[in-house]
Amino acid sequence: MKILILNGPNLNLLGRREKSIYGSRSFEDYYEKDLLPAFPDLELECYQSNIEGELINKLHEVGFHYQGIVFNAGAYTHTSLALADAIAAIETPVVEVHISNVYAREATRHATFIGGRCKGSISGFGLESYRLALQYFERLRPSKVGFTYTKA
Ligand code: DQA
Repeated sequence: MKILILNGPNLNLLGRREKSIYGSRSFEDYYEKDLLPAFPDLELECYQSNIEGELINKLHEVGFHYQGIVFNAGAYTHTSLALADAIAAIETPVVEVHISNVYAREATRHATFIGGRCKGSISGFGLESYRLALQYFERLRPSKVGFTYTKA
């Protein structure tokens, strides 16, 4: 099951940017030490860009053959109709994630252009928001364990 974790603008600075909001850990460290070992049965891939068009291109590239996308669009969440259209255009289900609880922050962060186009949203659990989103996709994975029900 191929899953893309897609990170938008400024998320390359996690661990260094506004630590009181986003924490002191880089995404690379969390991905390698926590996410990869936690989901050995998912084929995880990561992509980060600060450029809106590159995020759209990536959604188009994987959005017809990957099984899931975990998307933190950063500030584009609150501004980008183009990203919302890209999510609507593809077939792969997208789960919106945010590290901070955007609903507990400034009013401008309460609106999400992309949320209505996504399968669901997870916000406010720190980096663990990504794990929660991946758990959703993991549960969709076809079971490897055979099960036979025999009626008496
Ligand atoms: C964010 C929340 C956004 O409002 C902000 O612009 C970000 C990060 C989060 O993960 O909490 O860059 O998406």
